[in-house]
Amino acid sequence: MFLALRQLLNVLRLCLDLNGPLLSPALYLFEYVRVHYEERVEAFDARFGTDTTSPFIERQRADRAYFYVPAPASVMAHVLGTLPLEANKFEFVDLGSGKGRALLVASEFPFARIVGVELSDHLHRIAEENVKRFKPPSQQCAQFELRCMNAADYAFGNEPVVLFLFDPFGREILERVIASLEASLNSTPREAYVLYICPQFEDVLQRSTALTKLKDGGPRWQPWNRYVIYGAVSVRPASAPDAATISS
Ligand SMILES: C[S@@+](CC[C@H](N)C(=O)[O-])C[C@H]1O[C@@H](n2cnc3c(N)ncnc32)[C@H](O)[C@@H]1O
Repeated sequence: MFLALRQLLNVLRLCLDLNGPLLSPALYLFEYVRVHYEERVEAFDARFGTDTTSPFIERQRADRAYFYVPAPASVMAHVLGTLPLEANKFEFVDLGSGKGRALLVASEFPFARIVGVELSDHLHRIAEENVKRFKPPSQQCAQFELRCMNAADYAFGNEPVVLFLFDPFGREILERVIASLEASLNSTPREAYVLYICPQFEDVLQRSTALTKLKDGGPRWQPWNRYVIYGAVSVRPASAPDAATISS
């Protein structure tokens, strides 16, 4: 009886697992249709001759898949435009940068440097190619640094930073990333923002003693367009803005 119940639970877990054999292809299909519809509206790749739209799943372990879908460019550009960033002072770091869509959108803002960290070698190489192709007149930063590595091992520098996350990984890696950012902010207090789109594990940011919530936005019924912005507490309220001064 106990064994049968356990087997039933295992089957249920497998059916509900987004990385499992049932939901994984369904999710891929949904995302494929969604991002291609989005591309018809935004025409990002069509305008810039890049290759960022199609989703991609990489299975490194039988139980774990790395799933690439591009950031919604219009949402990202809108949110970056609301941040009070001093020109050429901040670095933009995308952990889980995939084919590099978010890096390209960020390059239309005056960042000092743009860093992309991606685990998949295949996606990393496509991102390198996209960075070479993306040369719009509106580009304001061409200092790209692309690294193929685990985001959990990324060491933050000492510059003011915008950390960008578009639903890149699970709770365990996110906890390591936020702990690393916290340690960096504690040793070098400075301005920092975390922009987390599709914030599945927002509770990890909520628990951080180094970060405070500034804003959330996007429609609840479109989780891929929902976002939260957190800011470093170490520099507030003296120089960094509070939620009220981030424009909507
Ligand atoms: C939803 S995609 C986001 C892509 C990109 N940030 C964008 O907005 O266009 C998530 C990406 O995170 C990558 N990823 C997952 N776990 C990772 C890890 N531990 N370290 C680095 N990248 C990771 C996946 O391979 C995938 O490309």
